[in-house]
Amino acid sequence: MPHVTLATESDFRGWRAAARTLATQAIPPEDVTWHVAGRDAELFVSTSFAPTPVAGSGFNVPATFIELARSVVQHRDPERFALLYRLLWRLRPQPDLMQIATDADIMRVRRMAKAVHHDQHKMEAFVRFREIGNAPDNRFVAWFEPAHHIVEATAPFFSGRFADMRWSILTPDLCAHWNGETVAFTPGLDKSAAPSDDRLEDTWRTYYASIFNPARLKVKAMKTEMPERYWRNLPEAQLIKPLIAEAARRSADMIDAEATVPAKPQRRDEAAMKRKAIDPSAGSLSALRAEAMDCRACQLWNDATQTVFGEGPAHAPLMLVGEQPGDKEDLAGKPFVGPAGQMLDRALNEAGIDRNKVYVTNAVKHFKFVPRGKIRLHQKPNSVEIKACRPWYERERAAVKPALIVAMGATAAQSVLGKTTPINRTRGHLIDLDDGAQALVTVHPSYLLRLPDAEAKAREYLRFVDDLKIAATRLCHLQHAA
Ligand code: URA
Repeated sequence: MPHVTLATESDFRGWRAAARTLATQAIPPEDVTWHVAGRDAELFVSTSFAPTPVAGSGFNVPATFIELARSVVQHRDPERFALLYRLLWRLRPQPDLMQIATDADIMRVRRMAKAVHHDQHKMEAFVRFREIGNAPDNRFVAWFEPAHHIVEATAPFFSGRFADMRWSILTPDLCAHWNGETVAFTPGLDKSAAPSDDRLEDTWRTYYASIFNPARLKVKAMKTEMPERYWRNLPEAQLIKPLIAEAARRSADMIDAEATVPAKPQRRDEAAMKRKAIDPSAGSLSALRAEAMDCRACQLWNDATQTVFGEGPAHAPLMLVGEQPGDKEDLAGKPFVGPAGQMLDRALNEAGIDRNKVYVTNAVKHFKFVPRGKIRLHQKPNSVEIKACRPWYERERAAVKPALIVAMGATAAQSVLGKTTPINRTRGHLIDLDDGAQALVTVHPSYLLRLPDAEAKAREYLRFVDDLKIAATRLCHLQHAA
């Protein structure tokens, strides 16, 4: 009886070569046993069957079968190799077998292939890298427990997507390691070998909590999307149970809460609503703030609740410029207090910058939105609005005299640099301004919140923190030079 020994659990090439030889030699499936090297060790006492190179199986095999077999060998079912050979064997007298959807073997392999694809998609979505060490010697390591033997087949997805990171994905079956050029595989490991916590963990949790909408909670659909078996390795999954428990209360609160109908604390009489020309001569910050409350330089004051002026120490060495206030800022009258503000606070913290020592403002001082039902949807300010508001930024800058200005996003960069500027080309470089101050352009924290892909979000967040670290280092140098 031929015993076939395959090199690995997902050795498709080995299975194919052996199956070809067996079929050519007309050896029926019931005479063959299939094993994987290193598993079922006692079976290696008998001589293993060695496939001889043959061009095919001696008859035409449909391409759909080969594609299916490629996936099915990754299934954890120990009978998969025998099952596939039985199908190959049956295809010779019955070439249309693949079309018989009710055939028990066909149904079984299709189910297995589906389970493998499902597991691959879940691996692509739920691998969470943790950073080990510091740049440039850092490495990203993830622990994942796949349901099937999918690591080899799924590794190219990660090397394509994270080509510029050195990463390892550790699993109990097989580990994949990317060095920037090739993927290498080593035997599986125990979970204790994997790092358990890092600075990305909070990001995942914040992100998850921010996208969790209690009013839309459908526990069953959520568990289909993120099956419970993956939860133990997902930092954000720790939040699921408390968030679900809280959901009923939160959605009741949301229903009870008034829609954010803008209040109008700053609305004055008609005479004061004339378009005011802004005097760019500097003034004290409190005088500026008071003056800005009546600003009518563009139409945005009309629907906004109030002017949201900058905030922070009068002579802060660092000024952060955002785009415009959002819904929460419009209501609170303070910049960066909503979700983007929370993301910013966390990133500042990680970069070693104390927000209390920073002057935080926006390029545009009124919230621009369109109402959609009960919510107010943020709209990007246009060039006319950015230009109309720029004198306020200039006057804030003249009053505060920061040595470094960080522009977050394209709107802020346009105000700070006085021209439209592609973020990617300027980002992360210190730019000398005419008056001796410097500017640094980076992305807006809302961009990180909007990224649909959680993995990209985590990576971009780190880049954002790295940009802020450039600002922190520059401030340190300036302080030492002073
Ligand atoms: N986005 C901004 O640009 N500024 C804020 O104050 C809040 C969100």
